[in-house]
Formats: sequence, C-alpha cells, structure tokens
Amino acid sequence: MKKFTCVQDIGNLHDAVAEALAIKKDRFAHVELGRNKTLMMIFFNSSLRTRLSTQKAAMNLGMNVIVLDVNQGAWKLETERGVIMDGDKAEHLLEAIPVMGSYCDIIGVRSFAGLTNKAEDYEERIIEQFIRYSGRPVFSMEAATRHPLQSFADLITIEEHKRTERPKVVLTWAPHPKALPQAVPNSFAEWMNATDYDFVIANPEGYDLAPEFVGKAKVTHDQDEALRGADFVYAKNWSAYAAPNYGKVLSTDRSWTISTEKMALTNNAFFMHCLPVRRNMIVTDDVIEAPTSLVIPEAANREISATVVLKRLLEELKIEN
Ligand code: CP
Repeated sequence: MKKFTCVQDIGNLHDAVAEALAIKKDRFAHVELGRNKTLMMIFFNSSLRTRLSTQKAAMNLGMNVIVLDVNQGAWKLETERGVIMDGDKAEHLLEAIPVMGSYCDIIGVRSFAGLTNKAEDYEERIIEQFIRYSGRPVFSMEAATRHPLQSFADLITIEEHKRTERPKVVLTWAPHPKALPQAVPNSFAEWMNATDYDFVIANPEGYDLAPEFVGKAKVTHDQDEALRGADFVYAKNWSAYAAPNYGKVLSTDRSWTISTEKMALTNNAFFMHCLPVRRNMIVTDDVIEAPTSLVIPEAANREISATVVLKRLLEELKIEN
C-alpha cells in the first residue's frame, strides 16, 4: 500500500479485518518493522483519538514519531499558489511539504474541510499536495471528505459485535449546534457500501450526502423508519452538502437525537459514534452509557486500524528499498 486516503487503498476488506484481529491479539508482533523509521503526524486541526491512537500504533511497530500542530508553533502556512505573501503567512505549503518529507519516512495528515468552497474541499487540495510533493507515503488522519482510519475501526468494531452475517446498519444524522464536515459520514458510507451489510442512511431533507458516497445505500428522511430492526445505529452530525447550502446548519431538530425511545425501535442495536460527541444533542446520556454503546471499543480500535495501515505502508517501503 503506497497511500491510505479511501477504502479502495486497503483492498480486500475481509483480509484487512483478519489482519486487524490478528494484530489485536499481538499488537507488538511487528515491532521490528518500523525500526529506524520515522512517522510525521501533521495536524491542521485538533484531535484526541487520532493523535494518541496513531502514535501508539507507530510505537507498536517500533517507529519514531514527530508530531506537528501546524497552528501552534509552526510558521503560518499559505496554501494557495499565486498569492502575494504580504500578510501574516510566512511560509508556503509548497516549500513546507518537501521539507517535512525530508525528516521522515511516512506522513499522516489531518486537514478538515473549510466548508465554504465545496469544489476546493472535494478536490482534497491539502492532502493531495502532500501526496504530490512530500516524496513519502501519505495517509489520511481525516481529510476534507473522508476519515478512513475511523471507518476502518468502525468496520472492525461491527465485525466483532455483529450477531448476524448481514446486519442492518443505520447511519443517522443527529443535531449539533455547529457546522461539521461530511468526512465521517461520507467515509462510513463508503466503507459500508464496500460490505454486503443492509446499509441505510437517515437524514432530514436538505442533508443528503454526495451521491458518490451514498452509493447503493437506502436513503430515508424518516429516522424512525430507518431505525426499525437496526442492528447498529451510527449517529453523526454533518452540515448540508447540496448547493446552495453547502456547509450550512439547516436544522438542530432534537427529535433526531438518539434516545432510549429511538433505540427501542431497533433490534436491540449497538450504538456507535466516532467521538467527540455532544451528549443530549447527538445522543442521550442513557444511550451512550448503556451496555450496548460501542463508543469506547470503537475508539480503542483506532489503534488497531492505524497499526494495520502503518504496517502496510512500512511493508511497501521495505519492498521499495
Ligand atoms: N474520532 C476522531 O477522529 O477523534 P479525534 O478528532 O479526537 O481525533
């Protein structure tokens, strides 16, 4: 694997999950693979889980790790070409990227959508420039349109907990006071569409995701209908995708909050969310604290998904060298 930004990069999902479960049994089995190799993690946005789990994954593989928070302590970066740099941005991304690449073997990048220019966001300008100019294998730690390390961890979690071969998995929009990117729901949909699960997306009108991510999923604007018989409920907020409302909050309707009453419609479903989560907006206290809540195992599996991804990138480097 030369990069990891989407589900296609991981290849066969059965093999990927099997590899993940083997690593979970012995997470230091490949500790020699990363000896004298350096991971650089570059954050344009905040993180708790991605930062810690990816660093732990690198340590499982014997790697050294450098973490850079671009907005804290680095020069302010210009990302647009052709700009006269007479403002507060002292360095251009086009110099910064190859410089960063010269200090490491693998680069992880977190760069969220700006939510003002859909074309720019969906072109994935920042991570694509890292892929083009760093000279290193690059993986996404959540980009503008996808969060594949999260989706891989979600898939592992579903595979560990599913009670039927083909569970009903419902991705449901839930309210949030701020405009959030579509990266997590897009990515979750992309990964679920790569399985043979019964996959349903529920969202209010005006919140349909991009067609390329919706894929073969059933879409409904009736959350109760979607939840009936569900085995897994994956709640997430996202801002509007469709023009002219791209990136906007159109609703904070709390009748979409996942509550005990909502979960009673399901087939005793497991509750999932990528975290961080706003309690009593997205999900009520009682649902997130119930034994059927998978939010902690899901977060713990981030270490496993990151270990598989870094292991595969390191194996490719070994072949090339
Ligand atoms: N789920 C997730 O990516 O969490 P962080 O934003 O804290 O990294």
